[in-house]
Amino acid sequence: MNLQHKNILLGISGGIASYKACELVRRLRDAGAEVRVVMTDNATRFITPLTLQALSGHPVRVSLWDENHEAAMGHIELARWADAILIAPASADVMARLAAGMADDLLTTLCLASEAPMLLAPAMNRIMWAHPATQANAQTLHQRGASILGPAAGSQACGETGEGRMLEAVDLVKQLADVLACRVDKRSASTLHGKRVVITAGATREAIDPVRFISNRSSGRMGYAVAEAARDAGAEVVLISGVTHLPTPPGIRRIDVETALQMRTAVLQAMPCDIFIATAAVADYRPADPATQKIKKHADTLSIELIKNPDILSEVAALERRPFSVGFAAETEHLLEHARDKLQRKNLDLIAANRVGEGLAFDQLDNALSVLWADGQIELAHTDKSTLARQLIQIITERLESHA
Ligand code: CTP
Repeated sequence: MNLQHKNILLGISGGIASYKACELVRRLRDAGAEVRVVMTDNATRFITPLTLQALSGHPVRVSLWDENHEAAMGHIELARWADAILIAPASADVMARLAAGMADDLLTTLCLASEAPMLLAPAMNRIMWAHPATQANAQTLHQRGASILGPAAGSQACGETGEGRMLEAVDLVKQLADVLACRVDKRSASTLHGKRVVITAGATREAIDPVRFISNRSSGRMGYAVAEAARDAGAEVVLISGVTHLPTPPGIRRIDVETALQMRTAVLQAMPCDIFIATAAVADYRPADPATQKIKKHADTLSIELIKNPDILSEVAALERRPFSVGFAAETEHLLEHARDKLQRKNLDLIAANRVGEGLAFDQLDNALSVLWADGQIELAHTDKSTLARQLIQIITERLESHA
């Protein structure tokens, strides 16, 4: 992990996990970073500024109204100085204030005044993390470009067990290094400039009758994140979307569809393209003969005959003017074997595999991926979907270049 010559502003908000910030400062410095620490008032109740001053080698700032500090390096200078802002732990309160765009203390003011990438490592009681208000705030911050790192699941200081533990310092440093590495790549080259990328996302719906359908748990988040990452890499992006509640990312052409057959038509109409990325959770089967009127519950049992949907990805990968074809594999078991089998069976250039099941991947803000191609494989560690998407686009770009 290399953070040589990187200026990292570490924000510490109030929470018992703030004790882990000590190790984090050490590890950031070990990786070569210059670290300045800003604490919220509440953080100072858990851990003293003096400890962090000793560890970071610089005075710690808490207040916006400290004349001595403002005279040395004012808050705007500090905001400009940062190559990245990492808030660890990020409490529910600081996330709420950031989501609302508030600037009511030094840390939130710095975040508002900085264009540096922002990373948040939430840490809180599991019920606070799961609360719709906190989830909505995390989503808002994520949509504005912040990376949400974790939280992990496990036993908590409050005695409960669940999701809400701050990620370990070593994981945070790694993810910070990845985010910064992706940004450097983005700045140094618009790697997909001039390329046309077609992406499918979300779940399809297959009608049983006019009011009922068969669908799945896919939220579309991964596909939308991939679309944004491809756009940021300079590509022209067409996003063919199943039903989702996600807003259309700026600068992306979105085509809404409902069924697998509609998705297939839209995809084929969007061809030719340079890269096709199939993130959609397409229903493998559809009711053979959807009822034209609502089915009444007269019978004690009901059978619905299903017929197979066309495989959109296989069809695209078999086209004469075939794009670089990328599939996704969601598996509950034997992840790598199933993914490699799909890679070959569907004649793909690359496949991204993730584990699904109870509480995993679908409808979550973060994920982990195993990326496989004919003679290689990379593991992308558990992180938020937009970071993963950027890493995936980078791998696709490299593979594409090695094909050319
Ligand atoms: N896919 C597609 N059209 C379909 C089905 C899947 O384009 N009708 C794409 C998905 O978008 C994804 C990949 O194929 O990229 C997933 O492969 P699939 O064989 O559908 O995976 P599973 O449904 O998990 O397969 P299986 O049920 O055989 O495990």
